[in-house]
Amino acid sequence: MNLHKYEKIWLTLGSASLVLFLLIIGFAAFWKGTHPQSHIETIDPQNVEAHEAFQPENLGLTEVEDGKFIVNMVASAFMYDFGKDADGKQVERIRVPKGSTVLYQITSKDVVHGFQVAGTNVNMMVEPGHISRYETVMKNVGEFTVVCNEYCGIGHHLMYGTVEVYE
Ligand code: CUA
Repeated sequence: MNLHKYEKIWLTLGSASLVLFLLIIGFAAFWKGTHPQSHIETIDPQNVEAHEAFQPENLGLTEVEDGKFIVNMVASAFMYDFGKDADGKQVERIRVPKGSTVLYQITSKDVVHGFQVAGTNVNMMVEPGHISRYETVMKNVGEFTVVCNEYCGIGHHLMYGTVEVYE
């Protein structure tokens, strides 16, 4: 068979770009790892309390300065631990004033979970062994439901919470 000169050129270019593409994908996935920037800090999932942010008394909402908040949470099958209130009841609702800057910090004790505040731009993957962080300004007033968007087992749909932004 006699290939036309241009056919040869295009076949070569086509194969070369395919190989290059696969090399880039392989490099990104296996060598660099797939963890986004926010997953840079690691943690022992068996002992999350060793990290100051995830000690029971530091869970939930803390105002660090005027209009700036941190929310520390521990995800596990099948709940988000936002800490306990003064009466010892499990906190399920975070309340911040409109316009607050909120840094969400979350880690998992067991499997991969999600942490999405529906209707906002807060949407993280929560991996055991890593701390996921996301800082945002809560611009809109309303009640926003926290959902787990990574299938984590039989109680996946039971993982919830509420972020309330008030005027
Ligand atoms: Cu946790 Cu799905």
